[in-house]
Amino acid sequence: MESQGKHFDSNCITLTRFVLEEQRKYPEATGDLTQLLNAIQTAVKVVSCAVRKAGITQLFGTVGEQNVQGEEVKKLDVLANELFVNMIKSSFTACALVSEENEKMIEIETDRQGKYIVSFDPLDGSSNIDCLVSIGSIFAIFRKTEPGPPTVQDALQPGKNVVAAGYALYGSATMMVIALSGSVNGFMLDPAIGEFILSDQDMRIPARGKIYSINEGYTTEWSPAIKEYVESKKNPKNGKPYGARYVGSMVADVHRTIKYGGIFLYPATASAPKGKLRMLYEGIPMSYIVTAAGGAATNGQIPILDIIPEQIHQRSPIFLGSKDDVADLLEIIKKHTE
Ligand code: AHM
Ligand code: MG
Repeated sequence: MESQGKHFDSNCITLTRFVLEEQRKYPEATGDLTQLLNAIQTAVKVVSCAVRKAGITQLFGTVGEQNVQGEEVKKLDVLANELFVNMIKSSFTACALVSEENEKMIEIETDRQGKYIVSFDPLDGSSNIDCLVSIGSIFAIFRKTEPGPPTVQDALQPGKNVVAAGYALYGSATMMVIALSGSVNGFMLDPAIGEFILSDQDMRIPARGKIYSINEGYTTEWSPAIKEYVESKKNPKNGKPYGARYVGSMVADVHRTIKYGGIFLYPATASAPKGKLRMLYEGIPMSYIVTAAGGAATNGQIPILDIIPEQIHQRSPIFLGSKDDVADLLEIIKKHTE
């Protein structure tokens, strides 16, 4: 079989095969996580297809409503959310869902319930949809720890409880990156066969990078520590200045940070004192993935993975990326708080 001039390797590792092989390492595993990851994978494939055709299927634009965050809801946001909710529900593996698009936690019907809780942002980077800049989906999977019907409390778990987390990037290609059992692996969607193929095995983030990534439009609203840090990267005492890159889609900015190294920052600002990004479906999954890839993620005081969220849509400042770059930032923050 030939596709675009390249022969398929019958030994190539598809995402489904990879997850099944992982499951085999745990004889006590029920297969539920495999089923859940397959459901998410299917949702991602359909979202990818919708994103690629959005301009010709009238999926650009808004639905004329605002979501719980007060942001305009795009048609693709709604479609992606429905896909994630329905695919996960019909996998019979989850009991509760937290979505960026739904104000309240979604409790799955009793006869379809399983042991997992999934938080997700079905389409992140919505402001980039209509101009064809990369967007993504983000998810984290937790285990329900208490008996009884699911409650909001069950969903308010710290990042260190994550069972698996991942993101899909709808960029120049569609890719899924999944952190599972302590390692991070990337799978590229082969559109010819509709399968995700392992392309980036055991992803590791460089210890230091050369790129900082922050929305510099808000400079006047930053704390003195963030101003000093960014200035130190632009005008270093020694060495060359860092390059600046900011897509404005967290998935794209974090993916680049994992691949090339560097730091991604979304700090508190004067008008958004808790930052913008939400813990359960942006901060925690991305921090879990970056940490599993050997990087670091902090809110400026403690690791993101140590924070226990108190609300499902809770926001937090977030700084993540190469270990040494995050350490430089923490040193400057510490100096300013002494
Ligand atoms: P969204 O979930 O409404 O798309 O918002 C989240 C996005 C992130 O992907 C990105 O990092 C951030 O918002 C960019 O915000 P800003 O435009 O303030 O820099
Ligand atoms: Mg988002």
